[in-house]
Amino acid sequence: MKEKNGALCGVVLAAGAGSRLGYPNKLGGKPMVRAAGRPLVDHALIKLAAAGLSDVALVVNPANRLVIEAHVADGRAFGLRVTYVVQHEPLGIAHALSLCEDFAAGRHVLLLLVDNLFQADIRRAVAAYTVQAQMDTDQAEIFLVRVPNPQDYGVAVLAGENIAALVEKPSSFISDLAVIGLYLYPPEAFGLIPALSPSARGELEITDLNSLFLQKGRLSYQKLSGWWLDVGTEERLAQAERLLAEQGLL
Ligand code: DAU
Repeated sequence: MKEKNGALCGVVLAAGAGSRLGYPNKLGGKPMVRAAGRPLVDHALIKLAAAGLSDVALVVNPANRLVIEAHVADGRAFGLRVTYVVQHEPLGIAHALSLCEDFAAGRHVLLLLVDNLFQADIRRAVAAYTVQAQMDTDQAEIFLVRVPNPQDYGVAVLAGENIAALVEKPSSFISDLAVIGLYLYPPEAFGLIPALSPSARGELEITDLNSLFLQKGRLSYQKLSGWWLDVGTEERLAQAERLLAEQGLL
């Protein structure tokens, strides 16, 4: 397969614990839940292929691995080359990313959470970051969307045009700009993850990794237009079905 984007590889996280969507792991768990007639894992892989990526690691767990691997296989049907990485326990998004260090092999990484669906076309953002990756940028990049329920997400507090702080699931209102589950990292991210400590929920938090980049002055952001949904609940999955239908994808 011709390498479309050698400087940037993709990582899709599909190894979460059980699912509030009540879809058993032996049937593939949340990544195999359908939205607009296709499993969430398809939406993620289609998005990455459309953004010009060709080499993707799919992080699965021991219980959902077989079903997902039977469905995605080597990724050729998506125009991708897919490598499987197994996360044995759901120790956090940053932990799952750390397992992909050998796969990334010094490349920059686009990380996408499998339960994140969004309307925006990310081709331009990915192409711009790829150019920076080719010049070996040490900047990480996050994507922000204004939401009515910021307490459910990681949020960014802006001071003027700059990010002043990142907070995971704030208990009181500090910002309505959610940090969505799409991130761009330089290879240095892998060296920073070992410095993280588990959070109150026992996970290595991606927000803590992003905060390290922020402290170093190496975190930029873009506001995404269009809708974005973390389809972690039945209600939001139904909402995604409606939005995808409006887009003509159902
Ligand atoms: O959806 C965006 C939000 O995702 C961000 O705003 C938050 O900052 C970020 O922490 C994350 O929050 P959640 O609490 O919603 O993450 P969740 O535990 O649901 O995990 C998201 C996906 O990542 C899930 O579909 C499976 C995958 N995952 C998660 C964990 C904890 C893994 O593959 N391995 C893991 O260990």
